[in-house]
Amino acid sequence: MNNLKSRGLKVMSPVLGKYFDDFEIKGGQAGYLLGLDGQKYLDFATGIASCPTGHCHPRVAAAIKKQADTLLHTCIGVAYYEGYVSLAEELQKIAPMKKALAFFCQSGSEAVEASLKLAKYATKKPGIIAFQGGFHGRTLGALSVTTSKLKYRDGYEPLLPEVYVAPLDLKVVEGLLKTKKIAGLIIEPILGEGGYVVVKKDFLQGLRRLADRYGALLIFDEVQTGIGRTGKWFACQHTGVVPDIIALAKGIASGLPLGACLAKAEVMQKWSPGAHGSTFGGNPVCCAAAIATLQVIRDEKLLANAVKQGAYLLGELKRLQKKYPAIKDVRGLGLMIGVDFGANEPVRSIMNQCLKQGVLMIPTGADGTVMRLIPPLGVTRAQVDQALRAFSAALANV
Ligand SMILES: Cc1ncc(COP(=O)(O)O)c(C=O)c1O
Repeated sequence: MNNLKSRGLKVMSPVLGKYFDDFEIKGGQAGYLLGLDGQKYLDFATGIASCPTGHCHPRVAAAIKKQADTLLHTCIGVAYYEGYVSLAEELQKIAPMKKALAFFCQSGSEAVEASLKLAKYATKKPGIIAFQGGFHGRTLGALSVTTSKLKYRDGYEPLLPEVYVAPLDLKVVEGLLKTKKIAGLIIEPILGEGGYVVVKKDFLQGLRRLADRYGALLIFDEVQTGIGRTGKWFACQHTGVVPDIIALAKGIASGLPLGACLAKAEVMQKWSPGAHGSTFGGNPVCCAAAIATLQVIRDEKLLANAVKQGAYLLGELKRLQKKYPAIKDVRGLGLMIGVDFGANEPVRSIMNQCLKQGVLMIPTGADGTVMRLIPPLGVTRAQVDQALRAFSAALANV
């Protein structure tokens, strides 16, 4: 009864893009995916940076099971329940802004939608500045601020009005802030789908100054960078910049669908009851998974591990860069690392060869020219070495 690909092709929408032609799995365990072919695959893709604690971490799974026997759903609009409140308390403890207040939803796109809506609502201004190469999601609002791949927008125009897409240039940003009514600026501290480009600290600090000067809100989309991926809870903590609003999702609940919009209290308090909402946002099971995820990251010292293994991986990849001119750049922070080949072909070839060697990694960037390495935050040195062996063997063949 397997044949997942042939069965799927008869029933699934063709819109779903696929990194691999016919990779089929039956489960996941810690740092591995278990293939239907009986092979264990070392997972350096983690559901696109969504499994910081690995697959089915026993503490996360136990929290989910316990919650499943207690309460599956009520809407926070209907009743206060423990998970929503506890998770918001936990996030307030780690958020970079003082007394951050939380709104929960189910995905990164929705966290971005909430952030954009909040910025407009709180400032009573219509405009948004986004940045070239940014990716913020597929819903129409999030898509309006997304330019990492133009094909994502093809067929959907016109999108939201009054969105201005700027290069990473403070003069251009200031020009827009002077001439347009801007509610907020949205940026990823590391452009994720745009190719793992680490945005310069000075630039983010400049955005903070400009946002303050012109009364606009600074929104950091930390959907991919947040919850420990870069070795700190939030990537903005590497820069000293405190945004007004943060969008989170992906890793927050170890793979369960949960998103969050966190904002400074004085901003969030401007959002009137009923001005936004969600039936399933902050679902009790997802909140239980998220609380357990945060505890595991803390108890197992996964931030420190991400720093340590990330530095080692980055260093080894830089050594490979010296040997292989096909590698144009190696960059990243913590366990969010990109290897830029400047061309799509070597990346596809390496990805497929690595899969054959039992190591899963996937590309990113406008034309898929960057290989990204995003293992669980608890990845071991031996696993990093295994991935490096597969990567360099594949590299020698391209
Ligand atoms: C930075 C960023 N924002 C938003 C999103 C959208 O998240 P989702 O796919 O959960 O809607 C993504 C997804 O890759 C992302 O990387």
